Amino acid sequence: MSTVEQELPNPLVEGLERLPVDPTTLVIFGATGDLARRKLLPALYNLAHEGALPEHFRLIGVARREKAHEDYRAECEQAIHQFSRRAVDADVLKGLLEHVKYVPGTFDDEHVYDELRKVLEQFEKHAGERLNRLFYLSTAPTFFPVIVQALGRMGLAEHEGSAVRVIIEKPFGTSLAQAKELNRCVLAVFSEPQVFRIDHYLGKETVQNMMAFRFANGMFEPLWNRNYIDQVQITAAEDIGIGSRAGYYDQAGALRDLIQNHMLQLLCHVAMEPPVRFSAEEVRNEKVKVLCAIAKPIAQEIDRIAVRAQYSSGHSGGEDVAGYLHEEGVRENSSTETFAALRLEVDNWRWAGVPFYLRAGKRLARKVTEIAVTLKPVPHLAFSQDGSLGVRPNQLILTLQPNEGVTLQLGAKIPGTRMVIRPVNMEFLYGTSFLSQSPEAYERLITDAMRGDPTLFTRNDEVEAQWRICDPIVKAWEQTPGPLEQYEAGSQGPRQAQRILRADHHWRAI
Ligand code: BG6
Repeated sequence: MSTVEQELPNPLVEGLERLPVDPTTLVIFGATGDLARRKLLPALYNLAHEGALPEHFRLIGVARREKAHEDYRAECEQAIHQFSRRAVDADVLKGLLEHVKYVPGTFDDEHVYDELRKVLEQFEKHAGERLNRLFYLSTAPTFFPVIVQALGRMGLAEHEGSAVRVIIEKPFGTSLAQAKELNRCVLAVFSEPQVFRIDHYLGKETVQNMMAFRFANGMFEPLWNRNYIDQVQITAAEDIGIGSRAGYYDQAGALRDLIQNHMLQLLCHVAMEPPVRFSAEEVRNEKVKVLCAIAKPIAQEIDRIAVRAQYSSGHSGGEDVAGYLHEEGVRENSSTETFAALRLEVDNWRWAGVPFYLRAGKRLARKVTEIAVTLKPVPHLAFSQDGSLGVRPNQLILTLQPNEGVTLQLGAKIPGTRMVIRPVNMEFLYGTSFLSQSPEAYERLITDAMRGDPTLFTRNDEVEAQWRICDPIVKAWEQTPGPLEQYEAGSQGPRQAQRILRADHHWRAI
């Protein structure tokens, strides 16, 4: 979409009021990292562009390397130009960068926190008022406890007369035990309402729309149960490989990287009961109930419910690409999976017996994130002699990306004298209905954290409940290291993925 189109007033979103945000200093630890450059700084710019930042908004970057404030500002400017979803307006950018400072040092060095305090106090002095403090931990996960403990020790976890909050990036632990340990460490310094564990999928408009779709429409909810639904398939396929992230990815793998967090969250949104109100506690209570209704996998059944594989060389995005084992930084003979698929069941009154299939992988045929809900077939086909070959059960497909929207697949008669049926689509596309691009997930999530609203963040018990499901699979896979089944880069994924499906089910094409 061109910039001119974006700037036109949009009648469909007119009258929407912004929720107020208190004056805040945001401190990004890991300020020169990939996430900060690609997502956080552009998100802040876009919020500034929309006038959605508070009048007094200050930013402090903390990272290891020595550099002057001006140099850091120049890096921010470059990142914003490169990654912002909007064309950059020079005045807005100048206004944002005016209040940016940089503090260098290693995260375990107490001098860093002394310096940080000084800058925080200077900002308040100039603003002439107390500013809330929001610490964003966008570092390698090994530093999460180091930073949290240092903030506690140095007296920065509270500030009289204003709110202090902390956003913690993923991965939140790499096992159940580690997640529990990290929760214990964080909650020894901060109280739960101060803690914002980020899962950026929750900030996606389409994920939030799942709630609107289910709970603001009377039409679907009566069907939303085991009596009408045959299966649910949740796919997060990516065409990209691991890029320069081998250091992280080779330790993580697809299960930890995408399934333990994003995909289980999507499952929760499909399966949860209607919350009494859309408040942080009510919504998260309902999600935790779903996670608790999923039985912890037992070692003997893991082969029947879980599949893993690795991409080999192939063709992707119009070029030949290397296999995972030849990517730079990947350990020799690594048995890290780049594809994982699971079959889970939610053992409760609504869902008993309905399989939820989850699959995620790198270097697949294309990028697509979707939830496909397939209804049971009709009980009787009166016109079968007339060639109703194309009759298929109804499907509801919620596409998160690309082409965000909802598609309802119905059977329709092909025009003509015979009763021949084929599937057709009824479609709702965000881009068409709202004439605007959805904001990036991080824009919404940073705003919510500044406002102190944790609804779209993961609670401590929730993250542990997610690990409870994935931990036994991670352990079983660690005990049988491989070599793993390979799938060609750019393909539909490994053949073995079929193994975990019920006999009459098939994966949707990617
Ligand atoms: C991140 C994973 O959390 O999500 C990445 O670490 C993955 O490996 C990314 O590429 C996918 O996010 P999105 O928003 O592009 O679907």
